[in-house]
Amino acid sequence: MKAVVVYDKGKYEIRDIPMPRLNDGDVLIKINYAALCYRDLLQLAGYYPRMKYPVILGHEAVGVVVESRDPRFKPGDRVVPLLHEPDGACEFCMRGLDSYCINALSYGENIDGFFAEYARVSANALVKVPSGVPDELAAFTPCVIAMVYKGLKRAGLMHGETVVVTGASGGVGIHAIQLARALGARVIAITRSPDKAKFIKQFADETTTEQRFSKVVKDLTNNVGADIVIEAVGTPTLEESLRSLRNGGRIIIIGNVNPDESYSLRLGYLIMKDIAIIGNVRSHKSDVAETFKVLSRGLIKPIIASTYSLDKFNDALEFMRNNSRIGKVLIKP
Ligand SMILES: NC(=O)c1ccc[n+]([C@@H]2O[C@H](COP(=O)([O-])OP(=O)(O)OC[C@H]3O[C@@H](n4cnc5c(N)ncnc54)[C@H](OP(=O)(O)O)[C@@H]3O)[C@@H](O)[C@H]2O)c1
Ligand SMILES: [Zn+2]
Ligand SMILES: [Zn+2]
Repeated sequence: MKAVVVYDKGKYEIRDIPMPRLNDGDVLIKINYAALCYRDLLQLAGYYPRMKYPVILGHEAVGVVVESRDPRFKPGDRVVPLLHEPDGACEFCMRGLDSYCINALSYGENIDGFFAEYARVSANALVKVPSGVPDELAAFTPCVIAMVYKGLKRAGLMHGETVVVTGASGGVGIHAIQLARALGARVIAITRSPDKAKFIKQFADETTTEQRFSKVVKDLTNNVGADIVIEAVGTPTLEESLRSLRNGGRIIIIGNVNPDESYSLRLGYLIMKDIAIIGNVRSHKSDVAETFKVLSRGLIKPIIASTYSLDKFNDALEFMRNNSRIGKVLIKP
């Protein structure tokens, strides 16, 4: 089968490799779609120290079971893998917190991922996709939509609260806007680009390209500030994001587009404003299942910038780096 194999730091090629072998408890899936994520760029740039080589890149996918060595799944089931492979046995797995599994390995990092025609996945890592959820949304539900869902749950989002989303045009941002609204929030979207703002406006309640957006947020909230910020960029927007929060506000840290940059927190500011900082990554299986219930209601539209075949993976990566892109890039093997 064809696969994108990373064989050294930053080095990859499309190779013809043998089909994956299954052990008991494993499932073979035929990939319908895999999705690119900013994380793939960071992985190829060498920012993930636990990468093992060679490894098949990719951690977002939807597929169909073709062979199962686990009674929970049968050929024909449409499934998504989590980002990680839980052992299903540790204390955290027992508590339903499988993304904290102490023995978990990560797809596309230290076990083979999904930029391939087929993938071996442990049944512990699979969630069935309801018929009302299209492949184009399901592919990035665990890493993107359910990840944001988990963050909003941890932040205790209440109906009617105001949520700011930075990096609003990105794969995370454009779907975070829609999810927050589907969960009853009023959403203020932040982007740098006036052109992208025109597109984003159809999804958000308010959209701004103002660099110092905290002022806009204050103006839109009777000078109070937002309840929650979904920070999908990182250091370039963090200062303004913190300034946008009301007393008792919560910030969900998701993006880190410039991992070489750091940010100095002013502790007094956090303390006196009673701010909660929530680092957020991945989703538990339960978050994926709950997010599928929201997606089944048809309230969230997949925003796909472009779809490439596996052979054109180089072009897909280049397009990921294109600043005018809005939404996700898909790979159709
Ligand atoms: N925590 C998690 O579980 C998780 C999951 C997925 C992704 N991520 C991270 O989240 C971030 C976004 O991922 P993504 O896949 O959505 O990437 P993406 O599609 O490339 O979107 C990133 C967006 O951030 C904005 N941006 C980029 N550089 C910026 C800068 N220097 N200043 C201001 N805005 C900037 C851009 O929005 P505008 O052009 O609209 O300004 C861009 O569209 C990445 O750091 C990624 O690694 C985290
Ligand atoms: Zn991802
Ligand atoms: Zn575990």
